[in-house]
Amino acid sequence: MSRGGRRFRRALIPAGRRCMLAPMKDTLRIEQTGAALGARVRGVDLSRVDDPTAEALRAAWHRHQVLIVPGQSLDPAALVDFSRRFGALEASPGSAEHAAGRQGGVPPEVWIISNVRRDGRPIGALGNREAAWHSDMSYVPEPARASVLYGVEVPPAGGDTWFADMYAAYAALPDDLRRAVDGLEVHHDASTTSAGELRRGAAPVVDVTAGPGARHPAVRRHPETGRPALFLGRRRNAWVVGYPLAESDALLDRLWAHCADPRFAYAHRWTVGDVVLWDNRCVIHRRDGFDAGHRRLMLRTQVRGEPVIPWRAR
Ligand code: OGA
Ligand code: MN
Repeated sequence: MSRGGRRFRRALIPAGRRCMLAPMKDTLRIEQTGAALGARVRGVDLSRVDDPTAEALRAAWHRHQVLIVPGQSLDPAALVDFSRRFGALEASPGSAEHAAGRQGGVPPEVWIISNVRRDGRPIGALGNREAAWHSDMSYVPEPARASVLYGVEVPPAGGDTWFADMYAAYAALPDDLRRAVDGLEVHHDASTTSAGELRRGAAPVVDVTAGPGARHPAVRRHPETGRPALFLGRRRNAWVVGYPLAESDALLDRLWAHCADPRFAYAHRWTVGDVVLWDNRCVIHRRDGFDAGHRRLMLRTQVRGEPVIPWRAR
């Protein structure tokens, strides 16, 4: 374990919660969840992934969109090394805290998602409230390709993370909605987090046609699988570019009601040691709220993305 990792554990993880080392098996097993998307991966120690295993994991990830790998024991540096198997990582937006030594010694590529407070200040993002459906960083020109979330401490109830399949949502659109959405661009708002809090330095949006964020095609072509996926990003302060506000809201409300249908979703109930990896290009996710009296501590990395390619079905 790196020096930073040790310091992090001492600072943030109660002694009883330190994880056991998972038994190492030499055979990778990939089992579909039985829900619309996602597969559970067994027989792998993510702290020691060799090239053929990494290749098999990338292939499974393209196929199943979300991978769930239970029973892992990773220090922050090992989480970073594993995540790099999916591409170059982005530094956490808490880099100022990192620079000031306020993030418990985790490397800058590790983001802390937590409701835990130390000295009265949150140690990470998103608190304990519900986080609405979104695709990570959709409000920037090149949104994140992948996100990896590792459960260090999980509450006894609540805090489940939901994932929904945006290939399937696109394919199942009623004809009129599919015709309406192909070729459109949507504005993705940068002012608030998925938990509804204003981001640092952001002002409340009064005119959604002029707020901060990025515009992307509503239907995108996945650069690796070539398949079309709905790419709506986030509902709050969204705008269908060029539409009158009432028409934009009506269309977005219909599209979001469709995407949020449980038939497209898998809900993940966390166990300590779970690593969950998803593809932001074809998956949206949300999180249930949980009791503020319980601790939830997740480590997260984010793989840098690429410009969004329009599907251009017409
Ligand atoms: C995230 C996120 C959900 C969760 O880290 O991007 O949405 O379950 N987290 O904490
Ligand atoms: Mn997210």
